[in-house]
Amino acid sequence: MSSFETKVQQTLANPLNQGELANADAVGTVGSPECGDMLRMWLKFTEKDGKRVIDRASFQAFGCQTAIAVASMATELLRGKTAEEAKILSAQELTGGLGPLPPMKIHCGQLVEGALRNALENDAGVTPAPELTADSGSLAPTLVSSLHRPAGGSIRIVPIP
Ligand code: FES
Repeated sequence: MSSFETKVQQTLANPLNQGELANADAVGTVGSPECGDMLRMWLKFTEKDGKRVIDRASFQAFGCQTAIAVASMATELLRGKTAEEAKILSAQELTGGLGPLPPMKIHCGQLVEGALRNALENDAGVTPAPELTADSGSLAPTLVSSLHRPAGGSIRIVPIP
């Protein structure tokens, strides 16, 4: 077993921050068309030293062990980060102490990255959710936000390339 897989197993023995976060400021959901897995992330912000930073992050995964382990690490390392700092974290950076994602597992990390980005785009404290219109995709600055959301829902389910 590789060092990465060993660390994944150790993280899975006690995954952190699993489950819905009450009164979350933002929630994001993504699905991977590659494997059918899904991940949802909740973010709760607080004010610290005059900055709005992530106080808590949590997740629910309907996915593989790697995605769960990365989400566990990511939700820990997001604490104290501003939305701007969180927005630029890559899948590889979100793995924290797990180390670099092996090539076959990169999309698992991207599932976590996608859920985080989607949550930040839905952050009620910063940007009001865009109206659901036929051409709302043209307003979107990113691939994730260019994909449509289900009618009537506040959560978008988007594929990750
Ligand atoms: Fe689907 Fe890992 S195999 S996210």
